[in-house]
Amino acid sequence: MSLPEIPVVSASSKVPAPSGVPAPSPAPAPVPPEAGPVLAAYHLSVWYGTSLALKDVTIEIPRNQITALIGPSGCGKSTLLRCFNRMNDLIPGARTEGVILCDGKEITSPDTDPVALRRRIGMVFQKPNPFPKSIHENVAWGARINGYRGNMDDLVERSLRRAALWDEVKDKLHRSGMDLSGGQQQRLCIARTLAVEPEVILMDEPCSALDPISTARVEDLMDDLKSEYTIVIVTHNMQQARRVSDMTACLMLDEDSRDKNRIGVIAEFSSTDLLFTNPKDPRTEAYITGRIG
Ligand SMILES: Nc1ncnc2c1ncn2[C@@H]1O[C@H](COP(=O)(O)OP(=O)(O)OP(=O)(O)O)[C@@H](O)[C@H]1O
Ligand SMILES: [Mg+2]
Repeated sequence: MSLPEIPVVSASSKVPAPSGVPAPSPAPAPVPPEAGPVLAAYHLSVWYGTSLALKDVTIEIPRNQITALIGPSGCGKSTLLRCFNRMNDLIPGARTEGVILCDGKEITSPDTDPVALRRRIGMVFQKPNPFPKSIHENVAWGARINGYRGNMDDLVERSLRRAALWDEVKDKLHRSGMDLSGGQQQRLCIARTLAVEPEVILMDEPCSALDPISTARVEDLMDDLKSEYTIVIVTHNMQQARRVSDMTACLMLDEDSRDKNRIGVIAEFSSTDLLFTNPKDPRTEAYITGRIG
């Protein structure tokens, strides 16, 4: 299958040539991978067995920004998120069609090692899932199995600081991670993800089990992290999508399919401001105003 072209505006194409002066014809500059989206899916469809869950999704995830995925239950938000680090590979019967790129490279190709991919594209889940091990070991574990050779205590401290948890746990690093509060456990899971130094963090409803104070802490943390990481967050909380994200994709269930199954599609993808203030698709408007979903 041929790959779609990613449009790139070069610096020279933004500067108009003075009138009367023939424009020079510069040699095309090579496009560095960091100029394009960090993640992209083109014409992506996902099946679970014979059931089509997500149809013909095209989306480009911009680097160092927060992209929110919103939409009603069952429209395929988690499915799409899991495609980006091939977590769907772990689900028996799951199958994808289409192109998924990370830094311009196709991630579904047999050359891509899914374990190495998941190191670059970490994931934080809805329910905090610390291991029944110490706080220190929760953070160190992923780095250790990836062969980290640096000073582990420093890495643990740095990751916990980045996850805004250090001050709360620095005196009890050898206590179980399971003894922390839900909000602390979620930040511990974020620290664990950061410790393997990913490029992208996928978050599937990371605050849905948290109280408003813990939610605010995680949201502040996301804002801090985006200078170094790209974040994709699934959320049912529209206020949260508006508060934290730069871009928003609204997924919907396509009601018009012939086989009567309801299939997830992207109704609209645009800047968060635009999507919430001036939605182009009536389904997006109905969803964000609470009329459907
Ligand atoms: N492991 C699975 N096996 C079979 N079908 C699945 C599996 N996971 C998801 N599905 C189906 O795929 C569709 C999309 O599910 P998905 O979990 O991606 O939706 P979602 O938008 O994340 O929903 P929610 O907001 O409830 O979390 C649903 O019809 C769901 O039943
Ligand atoms: Mg989900």
